[in-house]
Amino acid sequence: MKIICASTSAIEQATWCELLAAALPHAEVFPWQDDGPACGADVAVVWRPPAALFARERELRVVFNLGAGVDALLNLPDLPDDVLIVRLEDAGMAAQMAEYVAHYVVRASRHFNEYEALQKARRWQPLSEIDRRQWPIGIMGMGVLGTSVARAMAGLDYPVAGWSRSGRRLEGVQTYAGRDALPAFLARTRVLVNLLPLTPGTEDILCRETLSQLLPDSHLINLGRGAHLVEEDLPPLLDSGHMAGAMLDVFRVEPLPAEHPFWTHPRIGITPHVAGVTLRRETIEQIGTKILAIMRGETITGVVVRERGY
Ligand code: NAP
Ligand code: GLV
Repeated sequence: MKIICASTSAIEQATWCELLAAALPHAEVFPWQDDGPACGADVAVVWRPPAALFARERELRVVFNLGAGVDALLNLPDLPDDVLIVRLEDAGMAAQMAEYVAHYVVRASRHFNEYEALQKARRWQPLSEIDRRQWPIGIMGMGVLGTSVARAMAGLDYPVAGWSRSGRRLEGVQTYAGRDALPAFLARTRVLVNLLPLTPGTEDILCRETLSQLLPDSHLINLGRGAHLVEEDLPPLLDSGHMAGAMLDVFRVEPLPAEHPFWTHPRIGITPHVAGVTLRRETIEQIGTKILAIMRGETITGVVVRERGY
């Protein structure tokens, strides 16, 4: 088996190649080179690869994406129709997403921001007790990652609802399915967590129209993709007081440009696309296991349905 690996830098590529070669000693592993010849690879392992890869490597049967979201990959012009696209399933990201949301919600609902200010003023002042009914959480996208967040937050006794295309069910979580159910889902939600894939059906879904349907004093946690959010719609909703805060991990342009107004907005928190990082050990284990299964002629999970876009 021949594997070609393409990522965002030569160092990244070299690291992944080394790990793949160690996990699959019978495979030949090649790093992508801009001016190199075709190596006749049957498998590609990629994160944001150059479009030229698919024009040059014509024998590819499977492409493994080194992330959960395949939006960038599916938009590449020369991606052949008959190549299987496989995304990461959890691989250690589900726990990271649950931690991220729990951190934000617990901090807000248990007054930790206020206690920080009180400490600075040397004031001993217990604030109001928590009423979890005041913190209904709504998760858009109930896939591998959304389900993990829902389970974690329901486990902390917050009221949780999940919205998905097909209405995926999870014990202890209210289910909403499809566009018709979106208004009812938003109207009961104070903390909106976005974990949708970016597709033509979900682009711009976080906008004035949807965000203004949330409960008063609402919060947005965007962990999906930057293009889910209509950026100019967010500050007016925060400034008017309808929304209390936003925590953003993904942006239309990454890295977020230094002059972007989000950097200095007092109610916006920013992290640099690290909510669910691709963990090397878990990822290599998952991809290695799937490559061996494919070689044995077995079917694997995590195959992207191209027509759905995820
Ligand atoms: P997944 O398992 O494929 O789940 C996707 C979920 O979204 C499913 O529940 C699906 O509904 C739902 N969905 C898709 N299109 C929809 C639509 N038009 N309307 C309503 N629901 C829709 O994906 P995942 O592994 O959880 O990952 C989700 C996304 O997280 C990725 O695509 C990526 O963009 C993002 N991500 C971000 C980071 C980060 O660091 N910020 C890291 C990893 C992933 P069904 O259940 O009905 O199919
Ligand atoms: C990261 O954003 C991913 O899609 O895994």
